[in-house]
This record gives sequence, structure tokens and C-alpha cells, in this order.
Amino acid sequence: MPGKVKTWPAWREYPSYQDSCQPKDQDYVQSKKSVLQEYGADALKSSWLQVCHDLEDISMDIANKQSSCIPIFHAKDILDEGFSQDQVQQIKRYGCFIVRQIIPQESAARHYQELKTYITENQAQIQAWPTSSPSMLLLYDSPTQIAVRTHPSHLKLQQTLNKLWHDDTGKTISTPLLYSDGVRDRPPNQTFLGLGPHIDAGSLCRWADSDYRKVYKRIFSGKPREHDAFDLSVRKHANQFLYPGPAHSTVFRSFQGWTALTKAAPGQGTILLYPNVSTVIAYILLRPFFQPPTDAEDILDASKWRFDAEGSYFPGTFKEQSQYISRTSHPHLRLEDCLVHIPSIQPGDSVWWHADLCHAVDPDHDGDENASVIYIGSCPSTPVNQAYIKTQLQATLAGKPPPDYAEGLDTDETQFKGYVGHQGLSEEARGALGYGL
Ligand SMILES: [Fe+2]
Repeated sequence: MPGKVKTWPAWREYPSYQDSCQPKDQDYVQSKKSVLQEYGADALKSSWLQVCHDLEDISMDIANKQSSCIPIFHAKDILDEGFSQDQVQQIKRYGCFIVRQIIPQESAARHYQELKTYITENQAQIQAWPTSSPSMLLLYDSPTQIAVRTHPSHLKLQQTLNKLWHDDTGKTISTPLLYSDGVRDRPPNQTFLGLGPHIDAGSLCRWADSDYRKVYKRIFSGKPREHDAFDLSVRKHANQFLYPGPAHSTVFRSFQGWTALTKAAPGQGTILLYPNVSTVIAYILLRPFFQPPTDAEDILDASKWRFDAEGSYFPGTFKEQSQYISRTSHPHLRLEDCLVHIPSIQPGDSVWWHADLCHAVDPDHDGDENASVIYIGSCPSTPVNQAYIKTQLQATLAGKPPPDYAEGLDTDETQFKGYVGHQGLSEEARGALGYGL
């Protein structure tokens, strides 16, 4: 069974404490004050001790089980039967899972060949990053992406995943909306360190935005074990894009995910996940309120960390980027033991992870073929998502990139050789793309 990376990559480390380099930006200072005013020091201290205590067992469990923590489901079972109660509990515990064969393997392999042809024929106009080894393609509406996103099984799965969340206000429906995201096509033997351990869906905004803060109110109020990571009733209003940046999506994704077009084994350009959602996010949210003990020997003794009401250092938090995590800054997470590879996957398999889950792109690719995936998240119909998908559709029809990716990008995909757009799609697919909103 696969597990952790063989040698810890040269991912960026964030200092445990920064004394002399306090951010000048008052938004950090104010965010901390706001949490303190709402919840008070005692509640934060109580939560810190509980969360660090719980992480001892959680990290031990993951370190022992490694990648076998990650539940594996088969698309046909889920599409026919939905998730059983036991499976739902597994998803809530680990926050991530594999759904095999959401697209039949032969179809996925064929789609990959079609994508390769499309990329070759439009190569000069497709931008990609990183510049040293371009593999993340700023390509959003190739026929392959549209076909996979709108595949009836994929749409049905997305709806099933959206239903794992609840919103008792009746303002959300599980009907999926399709967020246009890019493609990865990564040749072998390229190290990729650009996306080390991180959590998407914003960074400082989790503390700074008053609605986003409320999502974590039990964590801040001394009851972290009561945090419901699948409650959308407040979260649907959270502003993930409070501080605009290319790393942030405007839409809320109940699960981020990708669907593989090629096979990939651990160490072959795949993904690493930290299979826990509620306690890890609680730790990250509480972390800026505590300073580590001066004696390194005491670093894992939560009671020796000092409460810090004044300092405004948020380790790994940069407004325009995702929330980054490192061994140095977040020691209780035991990242080296708990960030684990997903199991080997085949073309047509998909991987899904909760919006608050820590993940990293595989730094290595020692396989013998390109590792290619289409990023397809699962987006329920919330008011914020509907508003964005409407603007996304307008942009697509006007030959512009999706609004979240438009900064500095003037590619007009409608002019690409082989572009087919939304021709021939079902009513269900058109609805998910925003027609009728
Ligand atoms: Fe990410």
C-alpha cells in the first residue's frame, strides 16, 4: 500500500514564529482582533488543547494506515445506490475519497488522445505554467473537458456529492453547476514543487470575512469537536475571494477533484492528501493565536505554547494565495507521516477532497507516460455559485477565459482549431453550464 513521500521535498517551510517580521498589513491584525472580540481568549485556549490532543490519535491513525485511509468507491455502486451510512461516515472522517471509473477507461483514454491532438493543433495559443516545465494548462473549454464535465454519470456523481452537505435554510440545491478549471498534462521526470501542502478556498479570508468566520464558530468557541464540516447554511455566504488572487475560486466547491485521463501511481505525478478535515482545519485556524515554546523539545506539548493576543503572524497565510502549511509552522500535524499518496489510478478514475482538506501535488513523476487530469470540482447551486456561473457562461460565449482565470489571459478558445463549444449538449448539461440562470 502506498504512503508518504520517500524523501520530504524542498517545499517551502514557514517559520514557527516571526518576532521581527510582523506583517505590516492591518488586515491580519484586525482579523485576529475580530476573532478575539467574538470568542475570547479562554475559548481559543480550550480549543487549542482539545485539537492538539485529538491530533495525537488522528495523526497516529493516519501514520499507521497511510493511503489505506482513503476510501475507494466504484462509480456504478454510487450512481445506482448512493452512499451507505457507513460510507458517509468514512467520507466525513477522512474528507477525501476515490471514485473509480466515473468515465469508462476506454473513453477516458480516447479523450486523452483527442486532447493531445487539440493541444498540438493549438499549441501556440495555449499558456501553461510553471515556465520551466509547463504542465498546468490554462485551457478551459476543449471538447475533451466539456465532454467529461457534462458526462451524465459525472453530473449525477456531482449531485450525489453535493448532497453530502446540508443547508436547512432551503437556499441551496444539490443540482450541480460546472466550474471551468484547467488541465494538467505532466511529462515524466519533471519535479514539481509549486503546489506544496495547502488548503484552497481562500486563506486569510477564513478569519477576516465575518460570514466565513462563522463557519468555524464552534472551533473558535471552545467546542471544536462539534464543528460540522458539511454545513452549508452559513458557508454559502462566505467570501472566499475577499482578497482576490489567482489561487482563489469565487465558487464554493463541496469537493475539489480531478478526473484522470491517464494512469498514475504514487510518485508518478499524482496527488497527496491529508485524510482529515475537521481537526486539521481547526488546528490551522487556531494556530495564529499561539506561539511555540522556546525549547524545541517541548514543541508537541500544546500546554507549553503561549497564547498570543497581540502578534499578527499567520504562518503560511498570504492573502492572495491558498493557505500553506509546513512542518515547521504546523508541527502537530506531523505532515511527513500524514500527507499520503492516493492509491494508483487508471484513466477514468476520479479523486475528490473536501474544500478544507490539505493536499499537495506530487513533487515527483518517475513514471514512463504523461500524467494528465481534468480538474472538475463539485459545485452545488448556491446563490454565489449561480451568480458566478452566469458570468462564466457569458465569458465563454464571448470567447473570454473564465472570470477567475482572466487576469493576464486573453486567449480566445472559440477561435481554436477543433473548438466545438456547447453544441449538442443535453438540457441537463446546459443547465449545469448556466443556461437559464
Ligand atoms: Fe489545491
